[in-house]
Amino acid sequence: MTQALNYERLLETSKRVNWRLEDIIGADKPMDFSKPFLPESFARTASLDFLGEAERLKLNQIRAFGYLAMFELVERCILPMIEDLAPSKPGQDPHRAPALDQFAAEEAKHIELFVRFRRAFVEGFDVACDFIGPAEQIGAAIRDHSPLGLSLFVLGIEWATQRHYVESVQADEALDPQFKSLLKHHWIEESQHVKLDTLVFHELAAKGGDAQIARAIDDFLDIGAFVDGGLAQQVQLDLLALETAIGRTLSPTDRETFRVTQHQAMRWTFIGSALRNEGFLNAVGEVTASGRARLESVAPAFC
Ligand SMILES: [Fe+2]
Ligand SMILES: [Fe+2]
Repeated sequence: MTQALNYERLLETSKRVNWRLEDIIGADKPMDFSKPFLPESFARTASLDFLGEAERLKLNQIRAFGYLAMFELVERCILPMIEDLAPSKPGQDPHRAPALDQFAAEEAKHIELFVRFRRAFVEGFDVACDFIGPAEQIGAAIRDHSPLGLSLFVLGIEWATQRHYVESVQADEALDPQFKSLLKHHWIEESQHVKLDTLVFHELAAKGGDAQIARAIDDFLDIGAFVDGGLAQQVQLDLLALETAIGRTLSPTDRETFRVTQHQAMRWTFIGSALRNEGFLNAVGEVTASGRARLESVAPAFC
């Protein structure tokens, strides 16, 4: 009964808060490249004292480009999974399929939002920024895990995105208002996704039983390690973009400091902030206390 109520309510809320792309991004809503885009808790540029203030700003914007490119990549990976789960089966809550269809439609719209952001960024920023890929190959490697493990990964990412806005972006007055607006509108719809994901995760966990649940935790950690390898590559691409943007090459020592600091910043942004998220941990803990404990035990490495 609770599930029936939830799917119905979530669908109603989704329809009520739904926004149109053309209302939030376009030529009449430019980004202000004189301001930072990402909060310092994710960018972690302040400790890089070998960079001047203007250079740190460039790095902040390069990291913001990568931030939304990562969400574009992840949402491209999530979309087929939601589409697979959406079709209704006999005996299921009648609101389940429409709620998941709405979820999939929103993720498709978010992907288009991130693509339009990428185009606007390329026009406004001094140099080209690269992002790891190809997206199809990365998505296929992530999807090559159990459905329950994959849904756990999606749940972690959705909770992280949602909390990023509430805890780090919303109150930060220094950030570019347009970039902030993109994150705000994404958050508005993600707020329903975390709840839908929780329902889906619990549904799959009930069906899979203890063995599948234990495997899902292994899969989550495996996907996390794979993503972490991608983050290390992304740090290298960001370093090259920064050196091109500031017109100088960093010393070997400064490059190493850059790599270590920025890799850890990305670990926190994409993995640690999920592993430290109470909503995520509670959703996992309701299914497996030992699984929750395992996730909490690896969290410090990603913070
Ligand atoms: Fe999204
Ligand atoms: Fe989402």
